[in-house]
Amino acid sequence: MMNAALAAAGLSGRYRLLPTPAEALAARLAEVRAEFAGVNVTVPHKRRVLPLLDELDPVAAAIGAVNTIVNREGRLVGHNTDADGFYWALERDGLCPGEALVLGAGGAARAVVHALVTRGWLVGVYNRTLARAQGLVEEVGGWLVVPQKLEKAVRRTPLLVNATSVGLDDPEASPLPPGVLPESGGVVDLVYRPLETRLLREARAAGLATQDGLAMLLGQGVRAFELWTGRPAPVAVMERALREEGR
Ligand code: ATR
Repeated sequence: MMNAALAAAGLSGRYRLLPTPAEALAARLAEVRAEFAGVNVTVPHKRRVLPLLDELDPVAAAIGAVNTIVNREGRLVGHNTDADGFYWALERDGLCPGEALVLGAGGAARAVVHALVTRGWLVGVYNRTLARAQGLVEEVGGWLVVPQKLEKAVRRTPLLVNATSVGLDDPEASPLPPGVLPESGGVVDLVYRPLETRLLREARAAGLATQDGLAMLLGQGVRAFELWTGRPAPVAVMERALREEGR
């Protein structure tokens, strides 16, 4: 996606993978400071990089996680484009009822909840481990959905977002109990491997609007490209590259 974007924008340069074990993170950032315009940061480093940066964008600080670093003349500035990228994708697909139920309490869920509550949405948060959901609600916002209330909350929500990793590499796993889906509205699954998760399959069969995990992946990439280059992202080119790669 990023290499297609660079080529389409007529920029030289290359996006490449820098596998980085935890113990090499600080050295890697020194390398980034010297040689790169920016990097994306992914699991498991999204929180660990925070103390190693020179500056933190307020959105990244509020979420407590960084997925994009911009090298501003040797100063490393941490951003989180997952939140804006997620919302960008929702708007694009017309999935903005102002109220949502988010499943999960990891980094992805924190970005999603932040994106929604800062835009005035009402957001319920459910997670397998209640204490993590509690922490998320206290630090980022939304209200806690306890296990006894999950089914009712799912049925009533106009937008359900799966921000857990359930479904990743397992097309038969679902984050919801069998037969439980929103009565109307939409379902977003952030899992993008596979694209066709059980949750999305069931939601589509029930006549609900759906959005797969490539939408947010694209959204966060669009925003990161713009931060690094200062240019508008070639969205159609990036989307095509992503969808081709995902096939
Ligand atoms: P990410 O940064 O991608 O959000 P993460 O921090 O590992 O990843 O979070 C994974 C999320 O998926 C968590 O909400 C996790 O729930 P717990 O907090 O209870 O661990 C959720 N998750 C993973 N496997 C799950 C499963 N089998 N059932 C329910 N939730 C699961």
